[in-house]
Amino acid sequence: MAKAKTNYTCSDCGAISSKWTGQCAACLQWNTMLETVGETPGLNRLSNPQPRSLAQTAPVLSLADIEAVDVPRFGTGIEEFDRVLGGGLVPGGVVLIGGDPGIGKSTLLLQALANMSSMKSTLYVSGEESGAQIALRARRLAVEARDLKLQAEIQLEKILGTLADLKPEVAVIDSIQTVYSDALSSAPGSVAQVRECAAQLTRVAKLTGITIILVGHVTKEGALAGPRVLEHIVDTVLYFEGDTQSSFRLVRAIKNRFGAVNELGVFAMTEKGLKGVSNPSALFLSQHDNQVPGSCVMVTQEGTRPLLVEIQALVDTSHLPNARRLSVGLEQNRLAMLLAVLHRHAGIAAFDQDVFINAVGGVKITEPAADLAVLLAINSSMRNKPLPRGLVVFGEVGLAGEIRPAPRGQERLREAAKLGFSIAMIPKSNMPKQKIEGMTIIAVERIDEAFNKLRELD
Ligand code: TYD
Ligand code: MG
Repeated sequence: MAKAKTNYTCSDCGAISSKWTGQCAACLQWNTMLETVGETPGLNRLSNPQPRSLAQTAPVLSLADIEAVDVPRFGTGIEEFDRVLGGGLVPGGVVLIGGDPGIGKSTLLLQALANMSSMKSTLYVSGEESGAQIALRARRLAVEARDLKLQAEIQLEKILGTLADLKPEVAVIDSIQTVYSDALSSAPGSVAQVRECAAQLTRVAKLTGITIILVGHVTKEGALAGPRVLEHIVDTVLYFEGDTQSSFRLVRAIKNRFGAVNELGVFAMTEKGLKGVSNPSALFLSQHDNQVPGSCVMVTQEGTRPLLVEIQALVDTSHLPNARRLSVGLEQNRLAMLLAVLHRHAGIAAFDQDVFINAVGGVKITEPAADLAVLLAINSSMRNKPLPRGLVVFGEVGLAGEIRPAPRGQERLREAAKLGFSIAMIPKSNMPKQKIEGMTIIAVERIDEAFNKLRELD
């Protein structure tokens, strides 16, 4: 028998090469070429089920001739989940949910399916747990869902068969990495398998109008395992965030063809499963009786929702030739940049200091509006001097030392005022036109000005 031919597939973009290379020739990523078993050419038809010449050509239409219909949506019965989905699930839509193991993906989906099962036909396909295990979890969650259909299956063709027979309206595949297609010889979870199975399931969803939710595992680096193409295939990509130690879980929309991205759903893990937290803005503040040095509260905007998050910094004399810069929940490279700005434009040097920063509560802040809070927290830790009580800040800091505005400044200020913050240091361009009840506003244009105004406060 001829030896099976091996190929090398890029785990990032899915490009195939016959030789191993250190760098992917297509996407230029390093160390992403993984050995995969070569597929026999005939089987590639699977991804291309109809030869092009036989397929019907879709008509070409003018945009004006096409009626724009609102996508019909249906709720999942979990308000916070609907919020990240942009209002609910869409028939024929494919949603991918990623997250660390044990963070609550299966729990959330079982709860959502159970809620929907009274109105819609629902199917839960699990490749990770047996039916008995799922039933046990359902009992623990106290969900009453007699009509929810379960299948413990990992072979794609059989799953497609079930979808065709049962014609559910919503189906969950937990997880896409366990599913394999007989047509491919590579192992389940390999790039080729994940891509092929996701593509097939998506095609079925579009053809039949079944809403399919795929669960995806994440790699150690926190990216969805399998090729990037997975994110391109599906309509919506959601990520679970938060540390498994704390009970809070955030679900963030990364991509959404049917709604806004960066919408955030906030949940608490209880012994009865995940419960939505409808007013989460004070969740990420730690409780100090007295102000402590190195802590600064900022207002971040997640989608349509302002959140107050405490940024903590610790600055300590370094005993290493290269001082350490470590950040949790904030961007590491941005920290190095901000320290350079701090030195050049405010004359505060930290080259011989280890600098650690942390966003409290396992929340990840990607927006640059956290810059001002980071710098104030670092300065406060360096001088071992707490910031004034009731201070809240936001604003992006540029390389020239200028403080740039953040979107939706008014809403941020209002939320902070609602939670009892009384002083706000904000970018000048964010100065609200009307006075905000109970809030003294300090508008600043430059980082050195921010430090000077802070000094005037005490
Ligand atoms: P799970 O949904 O199995 O995670 P994933 O599918 O993302 O891997 O979550 C399991 C975790 O959640 C587990 O550590 C226990 C915890 N948990 C609760 O705290 N309460 C509950 O009611 C349930 C079902 C799970
Ligand atoms: Mg699971």
